[in-house]
Amino acid sequence: MKTQVAIVGAGPAGLLLGHSLRQAGIACIVVERTSQVRVESRIRAGILEATMTDLLARLGLDARLKVEGLPHDGLTLVNDGAVIPVDIVGSTGKHVTAYGQTEITRDLIDAAPAAGLDIVWEAGDVALHDVDSDHPSLTFTVDGVAQTIECDVIAGCDGFHGPSRAAIGGTYCDRAYPFGWLGVLADVAPCHHEVVYASHDRGFALASMRSPTRSRYYVQVGNDERVEDWSDDRFWDELETRLGPDIARGVTRGPSIEKSIAPLRSFVSEPMRRGRLFLAGDAAHIVPPTGAKGLNLAASDIVYLSEALIGWFARGDTAGVDGYSARALRRIWKTERFSWYLTSLMHRFPDAGPFERRMQHAELDYIATSAAAQASIAENYVGLPL
Ligand code: FAD
Ligand code: DHB
Repeated sequence: MKTQVAIVGAGPAGLLLGHSLRQAGIACIVVERTSQVRVESRIRAGILEATMTDLLARLGLDARLKVEGLPHDGLTLVNDGAVIPVDIVGSTGKHVTAYGQTEITRDLIDAAPAAGLDIVWEAGDVALHDVDSDHPSLTFTVDGVAQTIECDVIAGCDGFHGPSRAAIGGTYCDRAYPFGWLGVLADVAPCHHEVVYASHDRGFALASMRSPTRSRYYVQVGNDERVEDWSDDRFWDELETRLGPDIARGVTRGPSIEKSIAPLRSFVSEPMRRGRLFLAGDAAHIVPPTGAKGLNLAASDIVYLSEALIGWFARGDTAGVDGYSARALRRIWKTERFSWYLTSLMHRFPDAGPFERRMQHAELDYIATSAAAQASIAENYVGLPL
């Protein structure tokens, strides 16, 4: 096979890039390791910045988002039961939208045939070749049969565990946190009209939603905890305690339809380009989920990368591809900072003493009483400018 851009990975980054390039008439093929069913069923992020919703609108792929997405004008912090509303629209003029990553993925996959975007599912042994030359290629197997795609460019959108990052051979910075998030999805009405981030002596809790009848909740757990040890009753009890009485009053309990533990990590790999290989999304960076930035960062990478590749293929302009890595990393590092800050502020760290805990209380009290501090949180939460 021959194409202009071979895209590794059919997560949000790979699919958004594929659609952006196809809209500009550039040929591309997406090669994905797992099945369509598996990709469509992974429960992950749920809060979209305007960066993401604007991109979907530009691609003409926001019909269902406009109907089913839930606009949020603010977010709510809770400090040991004390509720701190943070107005997003008031200080930024913009809002965020609750709409699941599963739904975006489905919309992008459903629209692929009409856009002329080919996706190869269940590709084994995907390997990148000759990225330093003008003729890179991708090899893989489908049903045991070897395949090759010759291309001009490879886009590594294959997430944290894919092969693309290693092919760049860059350096990385990372931080592992001494806790994870236990997440539960349940078909019950959300407890609050906005996302709630709660700091409590027993640990962090988060209340979010997917629809007026589907809620997504998380509680901080130790890295040694197992899902099997968390009955639904234990989860609801812990969640309500940490959310505090004002928010817990709105909680409707119900059977969990998904329950899993995700570790928390900060990670950035630099640079994001080597020769004809470009990284985007989780392949290049991971943020801890506090702040809801992982999916949204994939969207901003794709805005930068698609502009750069379209400039190159359509006009022979190399400035965009040459500047891609530095341009993307500036926004990535600022978003890493916000995600680290909110994680550090809201969680219990096993090695923290009374001083660190008093600092967290003082900072949350400052936020509760300072319009400037709330505006800073709102500005970051809604998404920094591109
Ligand atoms: P991915 O979604 O990881 O997609 C990469 C794709 O590449 C996958 O489909 C994968 O199968 C494919 N792939 C991997 N290896 C290969 C290979 N060798 N060959 C071909 N294809 C390959 N963010 C939030 O903001 N809030 C959250 O609550 C949240 N929860 C999360 C929970 C989990 C368990 C995880 C893993 C992530 C979560 N995130 C969350 C982060 C967010 O989901 C990611 O930032 C987002 O999915 C990034 O999109 P991506 O396309 O870059 O990577
Ligand atoms: C969700 C996940 C997050 O990480 C977050 O900060 C807010 C909401 C969610 O799954 O809805």
